Amino acid sequence: MMVDLTAFQNYYKNVMALAPGVNSGYIPYLNASLGILSVYLVYRTIFPPARPNGQVLNAQQQAKQESQPLVYTKFTPTTLQPFNGVIEERVLMAVKGRVYDVSAGRTFYGPGGPYSNFAGRDASRGLAKGSFDEEMLTPIDMPIDPLDDLNEEEIQALNDWEQHFAGKYLRCGELVEEW
Ligand code: HEM
Repeated sequence: MMVDLTAFQNYYKNVMALAPGVNSGYIPYLNASLGILSVYLVYRTIFPPARPNGQVLNAQQQAKQESQPLVYTKFTPTTLQPFNGVIEERVLMAVKGRVYDVSAGRTFYGPGGPYSNFAGRDASRGLAKGSFDEEMLTPIDMPIDPLDDLNEEEIQALNDWEQHFAGKYLRCGELVEEW
């Protein structure tokens, strides 16, 4: 966003001319920063940020989205993949064959989130190994990861994560090879 600072500069020159004692230390910089912040906040309120697919949801649309009923579904890696917060608004993620609706954790898994790799995917291996690297994800056209090479510590870590997800999110389906 381009911000023309000339108006601010002129404003400060005028204010400081009226109150010379204030024109010292960090106060002018603090005032300038707060001014820019206020302009930005007003701008963002009037023009909310567009979603990655270009769509802007207003409060009513968001409420509608969140009230869509959850239907327990069998997913394959291919049908789960669109639920990554970009193609489908809802964010789903599989852990040990169970699919959780993690939409409430959009800041973690949604577009741009630190764990967005897991969205729409089987996150089991990444959770077990404590890594969100791309190679933790099984390609969607490959068989579901059997996880049979995990050591005890990794199995424990995965089980702990499973408990975390089961306690925090709604389970909305299962991950199957095909149905
Ligand atoms: C650089 C090191 C890391 C930092 C600083 C970090 C930071 C965080 C923080 C602050 C939370 C939020 C906790 C909460 O409010 O409940 C969180 C949650 C989480 N982290 Fe990390 N994390 C790191 C590494 C990892 C790694 C390597 C993984 C890969 C498996 C991971 C997976 C998760 C998951 C799955 C959640 C739970 C989100 C949820 O509750 O839905 N984190 N992390």
